[in-house]
Amino acid sequence: MSSIIPVKEFAERRRKLMERMAPDSIAIIPAAPERVRNRDVLHPFRQDSDFQYLTGFGEPEAVLALIPGREYGESVLFCKEKDPEKELWDGFLVGPEGAIEGYGLDDAFPVSDIDDILPGMIEGRSRVYYPLGKDQGFDTRVMDWVKVLRSKVKSGAHPPGEFVSLEHLLHDLRLYKSANEIKAMARAGEISAEAHVRAMKRARKGGNEYNLEAELIHTFMEHGARSTAYPSIVGSGANGCILHYIENTAPLHEGDLVLIDAGCEVECYASDITRTFPVSGKFSPEQRAVYDVVLESQYAAIDAVRPGNHWNHPHEAALRVLTAGLIDLGILTGTVDDAIASEAFKPFFMHRTGHWLGLDVHDVGDYKVGEAWRLLEPGMVLTVEPGLYIAPNNTDVDEKWRGIGIRIEDDVVVTKEGCRVLTNGVPKTVDEIEALMAG
Ligand code: GLY
Ligand code: MN
Ligand code: MN
Repeated sequence: MSSIIPVKEFAERRRKLMERMAPDSIAIIPAAPERVRNRDVLHPFRQDSDFQYLTGFGEPEAVLALIPGREYGESVLFCKEKDPEKELWDGFLVGPEGAIEGYGLDDAFPVSDIDDILPGMIEGRSRVYYPLGKDQGFDTRVMDWVKVLRSKVKSGAHPPGEFVSLEHLLHDLRLYKSANEIKAMARAGEISAEAHVRAMKRARKGGNEYNLEAELIHTFMEHGARSTAYPSIVGSGANGCILHYIENTAPLHEGDLVLIDAGCEVECYASDITRTFPVSGKFSPEQRAVYDVVLESQYAAIDAVRPGNHWNHPHEAALRVLTAGLIDLGILTGTVDDAIASEAFKPFFMHRTGHWLGLDVHDVGDYKVGEAWRLLEPGMVLTVEPGLYIAPNNTDVDEKWRGIGIRIEDDVVVTKEGCRVLTNGVPKTVDEIEALMAG
């Protein structure tokens, strides 16, 4: 059960979604499936983000039906029945009655009865919204329910004729975060910042990348954030140049930087922080020079996060500073405009400056409206994460720069006035990092 997001907020989200649905329609949203890790061992369960957004209900084997205008209740949950024998082995089950009482749903039934009940709820609805194409098994189940109605046409049944992807309506709602959602994300950001601080302090003792990963996980867990939002990246030396490095096994060497990209989840809301710092606690002149370019580009990008600017403005701001910095350092030649136009920066900065953040680390929501970049509006949350990566085998570059990989990433919410950084609890200037690590 959520504690930061109140039950009434989930009801409000369902209401808003139903307002946007066609009046004679139904939406059907399944919980996430459980996934086998090996033989009879399952991966830890993580609820489907859309289902979580609309229910806060944390069990698998559940289906939500939203039926605008239904006389006996518009929000209907199918979930596992209470079963004392099963609960003795696998833990507490909410059960249909508990779902009505505790989760503000209008009506609930055992999921074992869904094949008998749901076709009757679809009957007479002309349009079905569901996560079309996301899971083949669920696509088949929806069609099986519809087939029941098609087989009864001669008895007067009205099967639906339109099947519409739910994503467009729902994901546009998810893009705008409420005050409570921002509270959950700020809490995740606070815990993750503390985890990064702890890992920085631990790095001076040397060891292996996984020793720092252990500090991250320890801090997350200690605060009750039991899951990471994505596999932690702890890349030392040239591993910092591998964008999705998650092996985290290499030994830490005194003269190297470590890039840590890690964040926990709070009530399924993600945080996503990257910091880069020296194992020894002291940046070399070259590391510092590249670091300061990345930091300046991050400040420029954060400065561009404000209402009225569009999605690409922060990226454009970061790209200009990064490219100018590469020219200043002698890594690129020519003018900034030419280097941007020819994409000469690409071997050193090959990703975008951020992404939406929310229940998913790479959250939902369109980045363009038609052909135009989306305007930033209060309540949108995004990451700002420029970086420079100088591959160890890039012989076009003076040897002294090779193998340096730096990214700096914070989570930022757009406000009426501009933006607020949710992850300020971990230092990011060279002086702050060196002071922390010296302490
Ligand atoms: N940690 C994933 C990302 O930064 O996009
Ligand atoms: Mn990240
Ligand atoms: Mn990110």
